Amino acid sequence: MIADLGFKATKSFLTACLVLFAVQGTAGIWDDGNIEEGQALFNANCASCHKVTNEVLAAPGLAGIADRWGASEELLVQWIQNPQGAAESGDSYIKSLVSRYVPTYGWMTAQAVSAEDVKNIMAYVQNPPDAAPVADSGSDCITVDELPIEEANNDSGVWFVMLLVLFLIIAMAAAGVNRSLTNASREKDGGALLEDLPYGQRVKMWAWENRVAVSLIGVFIVAYGAVLGYQGLMRVGVVEGYKPNQPIQFIHSVHVCENEVDCKYCHHSAYESKHAGIPSTNVCMNCHKAVKKGRRYGETEIGKIYEAIGFDATSGTYVDGEGKNGYASPQDTYDGDPIRWNKVHNLPDHVFFSHQQHVVVGGLQCQNCHGDVETYTVGRVAKVEDINQLVDKYPGLIELSKPTLTMGWCIECHNKAEIDLASSGYYEEIHHRLKDHLRGNEELRMYMEDDKITVKELGGWECAKCHY
Ligand code: HEC
Ligand code: HEC
Ligand code: HEC
Ligand code: HEC
Ligand code: HEC
Ligand code: HEC
Repeated sequence: MIADLGFKATKSFLTACLVLFAVQGTAGIWDDGNIEEGQALFNANCASCHKVTNEVLAAPGLAGIADRWGASEELLVQWIQNPQGAAESGDSYIKSLVSRYVPTYGWMTAQAVSAEDVKNIMAYVQNPPDAAPVADSGSDCITVDELPIEEANNDSGVWFVMLLVLFLIIAMAAAGVNRSLTNASREKDGGALLEDLPYGQRVKMWAWENRVAVSLIGVFIVAYGAVLGYQGLMRVGVVEGYKPNQPIQFIHSVHVCENEVDCKYCHHSAYESKHAGIPSTNVCMNCHKAVKKGRRYGETEIGKIYEAIGFDATSGTYVDGEGKNGYASPQDTYDGDPIRWNKVHNLPDHVFFSHQQHVVVGGLQCQNCHGDVETYTVGRVAKVEDINQLVDKYPGLIELSKPTLTMGWCIECHNKAEIDLASSGYYEEIHHRLKDHLRGNEELRMYMEDDKITVKELGGWECAKCHY
């Protein structure tokens, strides 16, 4: 009997050991991943909704996820790849997760990541490097409470003309009153009344009487006009500083700096095509289904997003739509006005410009052409002087002098920007091939000898590269 008990005890001890061993064996998903790769994957796929802290963005923060996640690891992978599928497993933790978050945030969208990716992501989520540069830049942000409220450009020229007209009317009225008063006093004194001349005649007489002053003013106006005209001609086509009014007071700094949303999240096509594009309302809704109030404008500005897409903030559902996966359904009959963003940058139609070429192949930072967007309230065409001030903040920026978006600006940069031959196998190969064929070609030799190739040397000054 005692021996039997002993045997049982040993057996359960063994089982316990086995279980422990098994737990440690599979605990790999929480420990073995590569933190750096995980960080990159997290930033690309998860950071738009989750933070690695306890903070809620558009979904629960993932801090302490290993302690919380009761379900199995396969289920975790399944959850991330297909949340609604994982929920069908009937696991009790997932059930609680769904009942707690889905009503507020909607379903998490399925993520195209592998089990290996999840392992790396979890490694990062559990051990975010202390000195993560993202966290640093986050604390450097000027918060929306401190940011100045900027006005969009109004066309002040119209006001100037209106003021001028108003001034003329007042001056004419005043001259009329003056005449009547003079006449009245002359009548009283029995003197001769002022002749009732036409207006033009009277102006001429007045001008003749004050001819010195009038000719001085005339000379001044002509000179001033010439200077303005010259400056105006030099600025034709220069749009620096242009910041039109927008239908919604979208604040880049709140999103990019305070909430660390990557440019790519909203302007992803900058990496894939000619255009950077403005995000559709659906993209805003990924977060604003949950974020219903801003600190500066309260519910009014975010409310305009709801109005455009047809979302009822109180019930958290789409008006007349199924709200499947957080998107208004295709059969949606909601008849709202889309948000009509005003275009800030606008090159003439005869110019070809591709974002992908500059951002992906050229490896340029957005700030090199658009300035410090993360400090912007109103979107604008950056001034070249302001961009030049950023060299310390964004190492590698190319300093330029011509006004942004002019032909001189494009050309100047193409003359300065060097192609990084080493990091591109394609260019390196061409470089070597050309070097071998240099004999006899003086022009080529000039280009290749300094081992440095600018965009200009690759044809970045050819008219047809930029003009259709
Ligand atoms: C579009 C927003 C969105 C993205 C992107 C997203 N999630 Fe989620 N996630 C959610 C929401 C919302 C929930 C809460 C459950 C729900 O409502 O579906 C959630 C829940 C989770 C949970 C469970 C949280 C807990 O406390 O147990 C994990 C784990 C998770 N997500 C991991 C990830 C990972 C890893 C990625 C990137 C590969 C990712 N999510 C990308 C929205 C998102
Ligand atoms: C949350 C979404 C979001 C993020 C993130 C975001 N933007 Fe934008 N961006 C917008 C919206 C919406 C507009 C249109 C409103 C405006 O012009 O201010 C816009 C406008 C712009 C414009 C002017 C577009 C025009 O009409 O010519 C530029 C340039 C720009 N963004 C650059 C950036 C850069 C660079 C980043 C990253 C540092 C970034 N954006 C991050 C949403 C975003
Ligand atoms: C990745 C998440 C995310 C996306 C995508 C997003 N926002 Fe936001 N937005 C936020 C957060 C977080 C806040 C800050 C709320 C606060 O003040 O604390 C915010 C605030 C705002 C505010 C209020 C500003 C204020 O202080 O009153 C407006 C307006 C706004 N967003 C518009 C938009 C528009 C338009 C889009 C789509 C082009 C968009 N957002 C996309 C997360 C997002
Ligand atoms: C080499 C300079 C340059 C760089 C680098 C650059 N842009 Fe642009 N961007 C431009 C020019 C020029 C335009 C005007 C394009 C037009 O009107 O056809 C523009 C326009 C835009 C617009 C308005 C929408 C559109 O597609 O016309 C957005 C948004 C934008 N850029 C975002 C970005 C983001 C985000 C990045 C970084 C990923 C970036 N840009 C990098 C020069 C640049
Ligand atoms: C801040 C620097 C910078 C500015 C400003 C700039 N570019 Fe470029 N551009 C580059 C770089 C770098 C490349 C080379 C990319 C590569 O490696 O192919 C390039 C390449 C090009 C090419 C392809 C040239 C070729 O040989 O195929 C075109 C076209 C072009 N740019 C047009 C423009 C236009 C139009 C503008 C002005 C609206 C402009 N760029 C402004 C840096 C710049
Ligand atoms: C790197 C790109 C680039 C190259 C190369 C280039 N241009 Fe341009 N060009 C532009 C841009 C951008 C504008 C529009 C400037 C504006 O709107 O102010 C422009 C405008 C013009 C205009 C209209 C006048 C004006 O200033 O708006 C003419 C004409 C012109 N280019 C001729 C040429 C000729 C000829 C060549 C070849 C010697 C050439 N361009 C090479 C980018 C380029």
